[in-house]
Amino acid sequence: MSRALILGGTGAIGRATASRLLEAGWDVHVTGRDSRHVPVEIVDRGGIFITADREDPVALAAVMGTGADLLVDCLCYTASHATALLELARDATATVMISSKAVYADDSGNHTNATIAPHFAGPIVETQATVEARDVDYRTRDGYPACKVAAERVLLDSALPVTVIRPSKIHGVGAAPPREWVFVKRVLDRRSTAFFANRGVSVDHTTAALNLAALIEVIAARPGSRILNCGDPTAPSTLEISRVIREYFGHVWREVLLEGDTELGHYLWEAPTPLVLDMNAARELGYTAVGTYEETVTAEVEWLLSLATRGDDGFELPGVDGPLVDYAAEDRFLARR
Ligand SMILES: NC(=O)c1ccc[n+]([C@@H]2O[C@H](COP(=O)([O-])OP(=O)(O)OC[C@H]3O[C@@H](n4cnc5c(N)ncnc54)[C@H](OP(=O)(O)O)[C@@H]3O)[C@@H](O)[C@H]2O)c1
Repeated sequence: MSRALILGGTGAIGRATASRLLEAGWDVHVTGRDSRHVPVEIVDRGGIFITADREDPVALAAVMGTGADLLVDCLCYTASHATALLELARDATATVMISSKAVYADDSGNHTNATIAPHFAGPIVETQATVEARDVDYRTRDGYPACKVAAERVLLDSALPVTVIRPSKIHGVGAAPPREWVFVKRVLDRRSTAFFANRGVSVDHTTAALNLAALIEVIAARPGSRILNCGDPTAPSTLEISRVIREYFGHVWREVLLEGDTELGHYLWEAPTPLVLDMNAARELGYTAVGTYEETVTAEVEWLLSLATRGDDGFELPGVDGPLVDYAAEDRFLARR
């Protein structure tokens, strides 16, 4: 039986990948720090959780054991993480490092985490320039892409078959943050109006964890040193995303399409010019998407619904509440009209 080891395997990517591989007959081990975070679907399908901190090389060596057919790292943020990953990758047939489309820089050097938003002429290919590699705090907005590039370099400069995947805005069961919550909550709160800055035309490519898992399975069958984008088959606008969620529930609201960068109607898929990943390289390797955004996002919506309706007091999801759901400001806007 083929063995996969997924570092940080209890999040959206690990959950989708482990489930897919287990269904395909793989032996799957996932790591994390807290066994309470292990998704039930991984356990039910026979996946094994091992406690191991990503920062602890001794623990990582122990979980790697004598080797793996596939090694996936969901927690590789810096050059030093990459160096630690290489120690394990020597005993893996194929290794996948999850990077991010945040590494891409436009012709002026701007990137998605910069003060000035980037402008890309069309779908971004993997040969597009990146930000400069730096060894800084990866938990800062600016440091995140710079450190990811530094990590990518360490891996791609090695002679080992490490594939770097650059996803965009991930959705799926266990997504952190679950960006769609803002619209699910609006439906649950039975709001009759939804606001959209810039008329909701903004496009920041979505990536289904389910599609990412399918790409990882292809890489497992074709190990190699390369970079691959991962975005959904089409890239919906913010307005289209809201409609998919609203229609899932059969809910109706009036869309208030605001001109320009207004106070209201901001969401987490904002980009002044479309951010779309070119998927030709993945397709040429043999990848086929599991589904479109509309088809795959239902998994996350159902998960959010189950969390929201299970009756926990103070149910909150990090990073997507607060000002994003400023109903009072919306009501004041409507009262002024
Ligand atoms: N979210 C996005 O839209 C997006 C977009 C592009 C790229 N990415 C990349 O995707 C990756 C994150 O994937 P994800 O969202 O599936 O994972 P995640 O939710 O960020 O983390 C997965 C799991 O890792 C465990 N973990 C955290 N720190 C750990 C540590 N020090 N040692 C061991 N386990 C640890 C956590 O469980 P415990 O707390 O129990 O340890 C968590 O459940 C990152 O590399 C990120 O850069 C994300």
